Amino acid sequence: MDITINKQIVPKNEKEQDFTPVFKINNLNLWYGQDHALKDIKFDIPEKQVTAIIGPSGCGKSTFIKTLNRMVEMVPIVRMSGEIVYRDKNIFNAKYGVEELRTQVGMVFQKPNPFPKSIYENVAYGPRIHGIKNKKVLDEVVEKSLRGAAIWDEVKDRLNENAYGLSGGQQQRLCIARCLAIEPDVILMDEPTSALDPISTLKVEELVQELKKDYSIVIVTHNMQQAARISDRTAFFLNGEVVEYTDTSTLFSNPSDKRTEDYITGRFG
Ligand SMILES: Nc1ncnc2c1ncn2[C@@H]1O[C@H](COP(=O)(O)OP(=O)(O)OP(=O)(O)O)[C@@H](O)[C@H]1O
Ligand SMILES: [Mg+2]
Repeated sequence: MDITINKQIVPKNEKEQDFTPVFKINNLNLWYGQDHALKDIKFDIPEKQVTAIIGPSGCGKSTFIKTLNRMVEMVPIVRMSGEIVYRDKNIFNAKYGVEELRTQVGMVFQKPNPFPKSIYENVAYGPRIHGIKNKKVLDEVVEKSLRGAAIWDEVKDRLNENAYGLSGGQQQRLCIARCLAIEPDVILMDEPTSALDPISTLKVEELVQELKKDYSIVIVTHNMQQAARISDRTAFFLNGEVVEYTDTSTLFSNPSDKRTEDYITGRFG
C-alpha cells in the first residue's frame, strides 16, 4: 500500500532522469524575426542512446536540432534566449568556439550531401583539416569510418571513384562515415532516411542501432514507426513546444498528453 502511494507522489521527471545527459536544454527560446519558433524548451538528452524528435511539419524539429551544434545561427534573423549545456559547457558562451563544438557534435542531413570528390577524400577531408597528413594514418581512419558506417565492403575496391557514383543510400552512409571520421561524441540526424528507399532506410536504421553503443544520437524523423523502432526516448514537438518527452515505449503505448495521443494515432499532422 505504501509503495503505491510512494509511486504516485514521485514526480515523473525524477523517475525519468535515470541517465547521464550529454545535452541539457534550459528554457530555450528561438525567434526567426517575429516568429517564435521554439518556446521554452527544457529537457535533457541522454548519452549513448537514440533520442527521436517527432512532430508535424513546421513544428520546429530542424530548428531545434540545428541549435545543438549552433548551425541555426547561420540564419541572420535568428534570436535566442536560454541555455544549452553540452557536457557542462554552455555552448552559447563566447569562450566556447563553434568549431570545437562541431568536432564533438556532427550532423547528417536529410539529403545525402557528399562533396564532389572521391569516396576516400570525402572521408579523409575532416581528419586532414584537423591536421592529419600521414597517409597511413589517413588510410586507417578512412577504413575505420567506412566500416563504422557499414559501407566498407561496398566501396573498398572503388575508393578513388567519385562519391556521386554511389546510390542515394550509399551516399548517406558515406556521409555518416564522413561524420564518424572526426570522432564526434554526438551525431545529429535530420530525417536521414526520408530520401532513401526502404532497403537503404533499413540499413541506416540498423546502423543507428549499432552506432549508439559509441555515440549519442539525436534523430529527427517524420516516420513514427521509425522513431518507435530505433529510439530509446522520444520528444513530441508541436508549434515550437515540447508537448511530451519520455521513453519511446511509453510515449507510443501510453502517452500522457491528449495532443500526443492524437498525433500518434494519426488524428492530425
Ligand atoms: N530560415 C528561416 N527563416 C525564417 N523562418 C524559418 C526559417 N527556418 C524555419 N523557419 C520557420 O520556423 C518554423 C519551424 O521550422 P522547422 O524547419 O524547424 O520545422 P520542422 O519541424 O523541421 O518542419 P519539417 O517537418 O517540414 O522539416 C516554421 O514556421 C518555419 O517556417
Ligand atoms: Mg525539418
